[in-house]
Amino acid sequence: MNILILGSGGREHALAWAVMQNPKCDKLIVAPGNAGIAQIADCATLNIEDGGTVVNFAEANSIDFVIVGPEAPLAAGVADRLREAGILVFGPSAEAARLEASKSFTKEICDAAGAPTAGYGHFTDAEAAKAYVRDQGAPIVVKADGLAAGKGVIIAETVEDAEAAIDDMFGGAFGGAGAEVVIEEFMEGEEASFFVLCDGENVLPIGTAQDHKRVGEGDTGLNTGGMGAYSPAPVLTDEIAEKALDQIIRPTMAEMAKRGAPYQGVLYAGLMIKDGQPRLVEYNVRFGDPECQVLMMRLGAQAMDLMHAAAEGRLGEAQVNWADDHAMTVVLAAKGYPGAYEKGSVIGGLDALPETSFEMCFHAGTTEADGKITASGGRVLNATARGATLAEARDRAYAMVDAIDWPEGFCRRDIGWRALGRD
Ligand code: AMP
Ligand code: GLY
Repeated sequence: MNILILGSGGREHALAWAVMQNPKCDKLIVAPGNAGIAQIADCATLNIEDGGTVVNFAEANSIDFVIVGPEAPLAAGVADRLREAGILVFGPSAEAARLEASKSFTKEICDAAGAPTAGYGHFTDAEAAKAYVRDQGAPIVVKADGLAAGKGVIIAETVEDAEAAIDDMFGGAFGGAGAEVVIEEFMEGEEASFFVLCDGENVLPIGTAQDHKRVGEGDTGLNTGGMGAYSPAPVLTDEIAEKALDQIIRPTMAEMAKRGAPYQGVLYAGLMIKDGQPRLVEYNVRFGDPECQVLMMRLGAQAMDLMHAAAEGRLGEAQVNWADDHAMTVVLAAKGYPGAYEKGSVIGGLDALPETSFEMCFHAGTTEADGKITASGGRVLNATARGATLAEARDRAYAMVDAIDWPEGFCRRDIGWRALGRD
């Protein structure tokens, strides 16, 4: 099979790594890819948010199967264009991708499906939104309705902060994403992520994970795209996962199918868990980054068969072969991230790193020039490992971190603290 993966981050490097181990893969192209991906696959420069461009490229390169990494091409209808052209694709339609692209749509689906989630109001004008906040009191959560690159959520500790956030959003601080606002009850509990594959009808769980969104140790400081992750997430026990499937995920999938927008692809459910009960925080219509890195490390080559089965509507007969293992990924970011940071610093020590089925340094924002790997993004590398225990996975991941020579980078040294503290 000739495969095309769309995207350029650590998530796509991990997907490419898993796909390349599967003997059914004859040729792999990643567009646009990065310097790490270029070491294992062909990379092509392409506007991946333009469906026509992707279809033409896939046809010209005899691509049999396309895997879409990030949400933007999905929201832009790239999977729809591929399907119309008769090309097999892993990823939801633009209509089904609204589960991530519109928070008010997701809340409405949860209502219709009876899925437990935070109470909410949906507003198109600031005064009505503020009146709701004054009525509900704080803490309260103010969210821009549309895609805001992970930045459209404000957890307001006071009514005044919530009113200021509402003014910001309606004032255009989040562009088009803030033209409508969802205001939610603040949910307490512990967060974890649950990943399932869907083929429009069947649902197959493929793992749980927890990430570390804050930049600083002890989960302090500014929010980031994620500074590290591990799988499985011990808080998401089998019993809670079963509840999430029965009460949240399967009813959502049934509601989408009923509306003529069956969901096909990976569904990433962000859950808040309290007293043994999960509630939905959000859906994403893609793998998490860096959560994908730990899932791929645990699944290996079978990940490609499972994605292929989802795309072909064969998940009913698929199953995951689990090793009883743990995986961790540690993100190395450019100093300054998530604020301003320098690009172009040279990263040394990468050639000497182990590359086994237990340990792999996935690249995110890297570029190659004159035989040297340089940093070209905020999140730059993902030292990823697995082991029989989470502590073993952690020791392997940090051994890689310590072997990397990159004075301009930094990482958190406490990835996994919550789960390790439970042992
Ligand atoms: P979202 O983009 O919806 O995932 O929100 C980003 C983060 O904000 C989540 O991962 C949670 O940590 C937090 N969050 C969002 N909604 C709520 C809520 N209703 N209650 C508590 N925390 C929330
Ligand atoms: N790591 C969080 C996300 O991918 O949304």
